[in-house]
Amino acid sequence: MTSTVHTEGPHAPSAPDYPMERAAGCPFDPPPALKAEQEAGPLRKVRLWDGTTPWLVTRYADQRTLLADPRVSADITRPGYPSSAPLQGTSFSFILMDDPEHARQRRMVTAPFTIKRVEAMRPAVQKIVDDLIDAMLAGPPKADLVQAFALPVPSLVICELLGVPYTDHDFFQENSKVLISRTGPPEGRTTAYNNLIEYLDELMGHKIAQPADDLLSGLGTRVRAGELTRRDAAETGVLLLIAGHETTANMIALGTLALLQHPDQLDRLRGTDDPKVVAGAVEELLRYLNITHGGRRRAALEDIEIGGEVIRAGEGIIVPNDIGNRDPEVFDDPDRLDLHRDARRHVAFGFGVHQCLGQPLARMELQVVYSTLYRRIPTLRLDAALDELSFKHDGAVYGVYELPVAW
Ligand code: HEM
Repeated sequence: MTSTVHTEGPHAPSAPDYPMERAAGCPFDPPPALKAEQEAGPLRKVRLWDGTTPWLVTRYADQRTLLADPRVSADITRPGYPSSAPLQGTSFSFILMDDPEHARQRRMVTAPFTIKRVEAMRPAVQKIVDDLIDAMLAGPPKADLVQAFALPVPSLVICELLGVPYTDHDFFQENSKVLISRTGPPEGRTTAYNNLIEYLDELMGHKIAQPADDLLSGLGTRVRAGELTRRDAAETGVLLLIAGHETTANMIALGTLALLQHPDQLDRLRGTDDPKVVAGAVEELLRYLNITHGGRRRAALEDIEIGGEVIRAGEGIIVPNDIGNRDPEVFDDPDRLDLHRDARRHVAFGFGVHQCLGQPLARMELQVVYSTLYRRIPTLRLDAALDELSFKHDGAVYGVYELPVAW
């Protein structure tokens, strides 16, 4: 394997450390060293925190092929699985399981996330967004957009859907933040994980005793019927609660920052009320920002030939969808934010059987936010220099910790 960027092959003893660092001043672009690996070849080796050297799958087409391959496992307990940090628990939610158990548990919670059910929630989400903007406009003309808007929108929505009291948001937001961080002491993450499991388990107890019309009560019915253990129900609750607010919140804040840094693109969005244009903008921002920047993690169950290499059974695989979404073979001028382009093929929601369950909800929330916020506050501007902002380099989900804005 030859390259102008890398002179060593994929088995080089000097496999680069993963994850890699983004370039200073380029907060929206994947790390240059990661893009260099993409240019160097389709399959590369990288070194993780524990010294293991899994495969890095750099190209969009191979990424989709592997994520859809049943010989590839998402089971975190398998030897060779390239974990991003020491394991926090002994049991795991279905995102870290293989079929058929993954499919069985996923099916139990799919109904509220279908497009039809999500569309029925659009007016309620619009009201949440409008109320939060009203509150911002009623106060002083500056705020931290993360606290005032980006975090509350998806947190209110997922609480309503699951049947989690929103009054507990400080508790679950804080513990999620610690849990998805890659740095910090492992004990801190274990405590955060146990706190969330305990909390969901207690809530499940109430839902089992007194079912309401919400997703957790639906899981409670499964527990009563003996189809799901109470522990599995709590694991699913934690997964949905975290995935339901962290991701969308970061897309709202980072998406706003990206638009403020690209005023021509923001003008396009502000100047339209065409839902198709807004939906297209959401897809392009998902592609461009790819906030789940830690790579999809998998282990090979059998030998798999791909990209001119053989991944051996038991070897780890990392699928960095951030560079998949910047693959020049698939997207012209991939490093340009271009709300005109058709970005629907992006892999920001993953691919294959673990493809994001919440994507219809995330899309709808982002469409409501992006079509409302900049029209209702047309003078919205960044109230800090770009290099003063603190980015979530350390977490499983990328974004900004705070976004000072003024209007
Ligand atoms: C912009 C927002 C979001 C992004 C970028 C995103 C991204 C992703 C990605 C990349 C995966 C695949 C993981 C893998 O293959 O290892 C995933 C899975 C998942 N997401 Fe999302 N997500 C978002 C919002 C949501 C929301 C709102 C929910 C609602 C609860 C949600 C629930 C899930 C669940 C349950 C899975 C696991 C699916 C499975 O294993 O079958 N996500 N998400």
